[in-house]
Amino acid sequence: MMTNKKVVLGITGGIAAYKAAELVRLLVKAGVDVQVVMTEAACQFITPVTMQALSGKPVFTGMWDSSIANGMPHIELSRQADAILIAPASADFLAKLVHGRADDLLSTLCLARDCPLLVAPAMNKQMWENPATQRNIAQLIDDGITILGPDSGEQACGEIGLGRMLEAEQLLAELNAFFTPKLLSGKRLLITAGATLEMIDPVRAITNLSSGKMGYALAKVAVDMGATVTLISGATSINPPPNVFNIIATSADNMYQAVMKNIAMQDIFIGVAAVADYAPIETSTKKIKKSEHSLTLHLTKTKDILADVASLPNPPFCVGFAAESEDLIEYASQKRIAKKLPLIIANEAISALGNDDNQVTLIDENGTHALSRAPKTEVAQLILTHIASMHISRLS
Ligand code: C5P
Repeated sequence: MMTNKKVVLGITGGIAAYKAAELVRLLVKAGVDVQVVMTEAACQFITPVTMQALSGKPVFTGMWDSSIANGMPHIELSRQADAILIAPASADFLAKLVHGRADDLLSTLCLARDCPLLVAPAMNKQMWENPATQRNIAQLIDDGITILGPDSGEQACGEIGLGRMLEAEQLLAELNAFFTPKLLSGKRLLITAGATLEMIDPVRAITNLSSGKMGYALAKVAVDMGATVTLISGATSINPPPNVFNIIATSADNMYQAVMKNIAMQDIFIGVAAVADYAPIETSTKKIKKSEHSLTLHLTKTKDILADVASLPNPPFCVGFAAESEDLIEYASQKRIAKKLPLIIANEAISALGNDDNQVTLIDENGTHALSRAPKTEVAQLILTHIASMHISRLS
């Protein structure tokens, strides 16, 4: 979402300025054209040379820079930008923004901007909690400025509390979310993710290699696209994305109950979880002892969550995933019809499960559409864009 975006990164005076160096590196890596502007105080914490080397561009530090043809960097820099991000934003700089002060290049260009402004506050916890700062933050929100963070934790001064600037990775994710078109605004999504765990006895289970990464990537991107997301997580070892309602349901039966309890009012249901097809008829309460020969487990077929949701009288827009080791497109197409799904995502089982990237083919009534192999977050963006357009065209 950020490739070729132009961002002015403003750095003000604070110890968190060191995190801005990593942020520039990540932004450049994500394809962002970064123009760094530093206040005089910021130059006390980190040098313009560092930021120039990382951004690949000269850094602006004052009003009177002659390298801009018309001599008006405060106008030119914001006219070329898709957004201005101030990170770190000191308490003093926030106060300046509130009052529309324009006594250095960064404050002047913020006042003269015609693009969105995002600020990542960084300060001591008492400074953050001070009613003056809180009044300023409320005013900035009222003025349409996006506040990112701050985080809580140990501070450079040794105190512990709210006021730490978000980490560079978090700021990158926030900026990415900011630039993501809100294609799913107002929509409710229910997503199942991960493997299920069917207990044989208290210490043994039947499971599979699904990591939950694809489902979690879809949940994260759906939030970025403006949706309200309920995530039903099976067995995974990864952290759920922020701002989703996460419900843990590790067995196929628990997942079935959790989905059915939450399905009313959902606009879209995506079954990404690798749900066990069979589960032990009974779970032994005691650890099963080794026998001399073989062990026979009696399994029963689990309920098909996706097929049952798609067969509800008024179903949400249902999307399935098909993981196969051979004849992928054929099997996936058959599943789409059998489960009554408008869309199914086919992926090759062995290369998809557990990996950070995926190669998928979208199959709907118009045929197949293969996407290139890409990181799961990028694949999620393309899948959700397709879902949004199919869902909207069905409503109209
Ligand atoms: O039939 P198969 O298991 O290959 O179908 C895969 C799709 O169906 C996935 O979207 C999966 O989440 C869903 N599914 C389900 N409940 C099951 C089995 C599969 O929701 N019991």
